[in-house]
Parts: sequence; C-alpha cells; structure tokens
Amino acid sequence: MDEKKRFDFDERINRRGTNSEKWDIGAQEIAMWIADMDFRTAPPIQEALEKRIRHGVYGYAGVTDEWYDAYRNWWQTRHDFVIEKDWLRFTTGVIPVISSVVRRLSQPAEKVVLQTPVYNIFFNSVINNGRQVLESPLLRDDANETYHIDWNDLEEKLADPQTRLMILCNPHNPVGIQWDRETLARIGTLCEKYHVTVISDEIHCDLADPGSAYTPFAAASETCRRISVNVIAPTKAFNIAGIHTAALFIADPYLRHTVLRGLNNDEVMEPNCFAVEAAIAAYRDGGEWLDAMNRYVYENKKRVRDFIARELPKVRVNSGHATYLIWLNCRAYAKHDIERSTAVEDFAHGYDSHSELCDFIRQTGGLVLSNGEQYGTGGEYFLRMNLACPESVVEEGLQRLKTALDAFEKI
Ligand SMILES: Cc1ncc(COP(=O)(O)O)c(C=O)c1O
Repeated sequence: MDEKKRFDFDERINRRGTNSEKWDIGAQEIAMWIADMDFRTAPPIQEALEKRIRHGVYGYAGVTDEWYDAYRNWWQTRHDFVIEKDWLRFTTGVIPVISSVVRRLSQPAEKVVLQTPVYNIFFNSVINNGRQVLESPLLRDDANETYHIDWNDLEEKLADPQTRLMILCNPHNPVGIQWDRETLARIGTLCEKYHVTVISDEIHCDLADPGSAYTPFAAASETCRRISVNVIAPTKAFNIAGIHTAALFIADPYLRHTVLRGLNNDEVMEPNCFAVEAAIAAYRDGGEWLDAMNRYVYENKKRVRDFIARELPKVRVNSGHATYLIWLNCRAYAKHDIERSTAVEDFAHGYDSHSELCDFIRQTGGLVLSNGEQYGTGGEYFLRMNLACPESVVEEGLQRLKTALDAFEKI
C-alpha cells in the first residue's frame, strides 16, 4: 500500500479543546510552536495503549524485560551502540533527570555549562535549583547557515573551578545539529580534563532527515562513555510526550550509583501504567512509521526552504538535519543594531525587543511560533517553527508568516 495511505500525515486532526498545551490558543490562530506533533502516533503504539485501556485495571506498573530489550535492540540496530542492561533505567522524563542530576552532582551556586541558543528548560533546571548557568554560545556561521563550537570559550568555561556539569543537547534543539563523533569526543576530552560530568540529552535523536544520523555521546569515545549521564526517550520521535516515558543510561558504576540514589529520592523512576507498553511498542514495532514520518517532515522542510527563498529572501533558514523544528534567522528584520546592545538592555530601554517580532507575527498573522530569544544568547531575532504537521498547515503557516513579515517591514 502506498505510504501516504498507510500513515495519513496529511490528515488535519483537530486538537483544539483536547487539553493540548500547543493548541490552547486563539480560534483564529495556528500553532507551530511547542515541540509535539500534530500526527497521530504510530499504529503499534496506539494498539498497545488501546489494549491496555480495554483491560480496565490500572494498578501500579513495573519495568519488564521486554522494555530493556526494546531500548537495547533499537540502539544497537538503529544507532550501532550497545547499551548494557545494567546501565539502563526507566524514568518519567528527560527534564526530571536533568534537574535531579543538577541537584545531585553540584552544589548551590556552582555552574552548569550550556551551549546557547539551546532548549530553554535547561535554564530552569539550573536556575530553579540555585545553580548558575554558564553560557558558551555557539558561533554562528552565516555563510553555511550553521553553528560551530567556540572551543576556546568552551574550554575557558569548563576550566572555571565552579563548573561541575555540562548539559549537551545531542542533537541540538533548536539549531538542529547532529554533533559528529570527533566533536563529541573533543567535548568529552575537555570535560574529563576539568572534572566536568556531561548530561547528554538525546531526546531528539530519532528525528533525523533521511540519510542523516546522530552519534550517541557515549559512543564517541571511552572517555565520553565514562563521564556521562545519557538521557533518551521515544516521546519526541513518536509523539507520546504526554505519556511521560523515558530512560537514562550510565556506564560508569560509581557515577550510576550516585545518580540513581538522587533519582530514587526524587521519585522519578516509577512508570505510570501506559509508559512501559508505549515505549516497547515504539521501539519494537514503530520503525516503519518513524521512517515515513521523518520523510514527510523532510518534505515539509523543503517546502519551507523553497517558499522562503522565493517569497521571504531576507529570512535565512538554518541547515540542521535533526528535529522537526526549523530555525529561522530573521535578523534582517531587526530595527536597530542588535550587535551593539544586549537583549537585556533592549528590554530595559524599551526598544523593539527580540520577542516583539514573534508577538507581531502572532497578532498580525495569527501564527504562533517559538521566540528564539528564550533559548539564550544567540537566539535573538530567530524564530523556531514546528514542522511536524500536515503540509496544508505548513502552507498556511508560511502564508501567515509572509503576511506578518511584510506588514512588520511597513511599521
Ligand atoms: C532537548 C529537549 N529535552 C527535553 C525535552 C522535554 O523532555 P521531557 O518531556 O521528557 O522532560 C524537550 C522537549 O521539547 C527537548 O526539546
């Protein structure tokens, strides 16, 4: 059967009024912001959950051997990496692990390195626990519409004796980079040199353009394996974030023991009665759907690139191969020289701020995007657009973007 018929990614499923955070917006607005998909999940997951529901008894659940097998087989066959069974544990989410590890492996006022612009909730995990964020901004390569690591800066930040941890986003949200093995190994060497533990957030790893692939941080070198807490999940790739099902693996037995005591204390290792079944179905039987979905999203990315090149040439589209999020450089729409003033000063002085563009697009075009500024330094005047939706929504979103940006230029 043709792929389009088997998995209907074109269907516009109405999510309004379904307690969806993403779609709890104005009736005339469309949502292309929060990172979940507007697609129904993979059929094997749906079937597994329906079976569980039909049973009708929802008592406490445990973690089964099938759960371990599903994760381990997936990583071995898809990512060429062996996760030993005793490295692996269930957890309710990626962020709960990150926050718990921040508390367990650092003291108040110590520092955690983030490579900005990066997923905004990392800031919460650090700041809400009384630790300090130490940003090591990625260097923007405008010619290639990508980013590089500023190695001197990163080493300086890791060498700060107050630095305990680095949170790595692999692949990187929002810029969509799949870090290569050499880069990851170099990060590992530097972190080891300065006694910094790496938390590698790999939640986006299975969202990859066809032909592209991610490298697990722990696969990059023996050092990387030893000094890392690795957090993985089927939630982003299979659109089951609301089920709260994730995992972590730690190869080093001493680090593992320390972190697991913290996770246990924080009570984030108990599955709800759908979490284990959903993860097993995803990793055991969801591969075909995932590949088709990645192909569909890739076509959406092409659609955006073509439209923007044709209709909005001042917007630059980032070149990342990971995630269903596209990172749009709208610097050309800045109304003042943002190089000479920091984001904080802009707000203080009431200039047109970086988030104003995003607000304007929402008010004028009815298009809800993520404002790049929330991802830290380097996110100013960028917008993040979620393309995990039917192509008709992408088309509509692009038209709305054009209407709004054309109007923005006239004010
Ligand atoms: C990089 C990254 N990490 C973690 C999360 C959230 O993970 P969880 O819902 O498992 O806490 C997201 C969600 O967008 C994300 O983009």
